[in-house]
Amino acid sequence: MSFTCPDSAFSETVTEVEHYTDRLFRFRLTRPASFRFRSGEFVMIGLPGEKPVWRAYSIASPSWDETIEFYSIKVPGGPLTEHLQNIKIGDNVWFRKKPTGTLVLDALLPGKRLWMISTGTGFAPFASLIRDPEAYEKFESLIVTHTCREAAELSYSINTVAATKADPLVGELADRLHLVATTTREDTSFMGRITDLMENGKLYTHLGVPPLDPEHDRVMICGSMAMLKDVKAILDNANFTEGSNSMPGQYVVERAFVD
Ligand code: A2P
Repeated sequence: MSFTCPDSAFSETVTEVEHYTDRLFRFRLTRPASFRFRSGEFVMIGLPGEKPVWRAYSIASPSWDETIEFYSIKVPGGPLTEHLQNIKIGDNVWFRKKPTGTLVLDALLPGKRLWMISTGTGFAPFASLIRDPEAYEKFESLIVTHTCREAAELSYSINTVAATKADPLVGELADRLHLVATTTREDTSFMGRITDLMENGKLYTHLGVPPLDPEHDRVMICGSMAMLKDVKAILDNANFTEGSNSMPGQYVVERAFVD
């Protein structure tokens, strides 16, 4: 059966699907010529149907890319993801035409280092930003942290950072990109919640940088509600001010949507 895509949405074709674990996958769609977004923004995704279920997804590809990438969790019984996880190349996925979001470079004041702190699928908007040359024009260094329970859940961030460093467009700039990938429930070479690593200073000694300072550091946070709240408290304590599209600041926050 074929369904009519609403005027407010694009209907695009799946060009790639890659499954990482039984809970995580990424996919790519064709990009409509008229679709513009800023790296770090999100859109609402739905599958063709009579009454589609729409869910917010960060766009994981940069704004210059010819196709659009998304990174998704598979929620058992989840109204969208239990179907979305079965998509194949050639299938159609709908997404609403209007992108939005606060994890954009415009919402931050100028600074030296851009920190992107994520847990789980919260890495997705940062997969977009670390591939955007504008981020390297604005900041001397980009530090992206990704914390998951288990090592296999770090595959997407590790692969994306490696591919970015090998990319002819941003590869040279990405010498200034650093990934800190940590686990909390499986033994790996770097373990710990990001909040603990900030508080005990291990994050900074590992990178060889000074602790967060509102004068030089800008921070984006994306992940679980509990993590957002705790990192936000650390930043507020260190006198960082929260920014938005209309009032740029020293940090911005967005929850990872589908969970
Ligand atoms: P932990 O394993 O110690 O709970 P989830 O899968 O629950 O969304 O969590 C993703 C990652 O975020 C896990 O590594 C988890 O660590 C970590 N995490 C959960 N809550 C917080 C928090 N309040 N502060 C920092 N990290 C957190």
